[in-house]
Amino acid sequence: MKQIALFLSLAFALASCNRSETTTTPEQKETATTAPSVDTSHRAPSVPTALSGLALAGQKIFYNTSYGKIKDACSSCHIDGQPTTHDSRLRAGHTLVGIIHRTSTWNGTFKGEAVQKNAFGATMCAVMYQHKGDDMATVLSKSDIDALIAYFQAIDNAPGGISSNLKIQWVTKPAVHEEDKIDETAANASAKKIMMLPGDPDNGKQLFSRTCEYCHTMNEKKVGPPLAKAIDNPQMGAKSIRCGSAAMPFYGKDILTDQQIADIVAYLQQALGK
Ligand code: HEC
Ligand code: HEC
Repeated sequence: MKQIALFLSLAFALASCNRSETTTTPEQKETATTAPSVDTSHRAPSVPTALSGLALAGQKIFYNTSYGKIKDACSSCHIDGQPTTHDSRLRAGHTLVGIIHRTSTWNGTFKGEAVQKNAFGATMCAVMYQHKGDDMATVLSKSDIDALIAYFQAIDNAPGGISSNLKIQWVTKPAVHEEDKIDETAANASAKKIMMLPGDPDNGKQLFSRTCEYCHTMNEKKVGPPLAKAIDNPQMGAKSIRCGSAAMPFYGKDILTDQQIADIVAYLQQALGK
């Protein structure tokens, strides 16, 4: 009798667990029935799922736009499979759903014990993109690393996860520190190739609003500099998008194709006259 009661309460607990995961929130319903609207706002999103303890602490880091000196959050560049990041933006980084199954990250930069020690490679993002500190070994406290890992575990069942190791489609390994060098020959060659393609500024305008506008406007500083000032010439624009530059993330070939970058550059040329 006791065993049956225990079984029943366990079954109930499991069922209610499942239910809270699959319940459609008002936000999800909205995105399912209306055309995707372009999210260009730069605000801290509301908390998507009820979590506690370490996982909640990790979720707060994920959405924190003041984590480093650059005003962006992990959620500016990655999705977590939750309604809050379910929008029409094209982010520079891949989903973090499924990440806890990857055994090598940043194309082999982190392997073995280093994977967990660096929160699966988040330390590199915190140094390079968020300017939280200079040293990957100390940029995240032990408790922040544990919190992020607990959050990765908490979101593991969300849709669209990637659990196999990524082959990040970069042209050159990005420079983590200012003094690090990228492969300039490869970077310039990739930009030249993009500039040979005739770009479509109308498509570029749409892509711009889904990718860049979250961090840039033409004439005012947002997360990144105003593009009227930041871009010297179209080829440099193409190079920055494909290869990144300091806190500017690179867009791998599986995130933006050469043609899509050519379209964005054509739009920038039209909008900026250069
Ligand atoms: C400015 C954009 C940006 C920000 C901010 C950012 N990342 Fe990243 N991150 C990237 C890009 C680009 C990559 C390259 C790999 C990819 O495409 O996911 C990456 C890679 C990673 C990887 C390794 C993925 C793999 O399998 O190789 C992890 C883990 C990660 N980021 C976690 C985080 C976390 C956690 C934060 C917040 C503390 C964060 N990132 C902040 C852009 C960003
Ligand atoms: C998550 C935020 C973010 C997104 C998204 C983003 N940028 Fe940036 N971008 C930055 C930051 C921050 C800098 C300043 C980099 C620095 O000098 O540290 C920057 C710098 C740049 C620069 C100047 C690079 C240099 O070498 O001086 C260009 C050009 C640029 N971005 C274009 C774009 C375009 C085009 C897009 C869309 C495809 C885009 N950015 C998307 C954050 C972003």
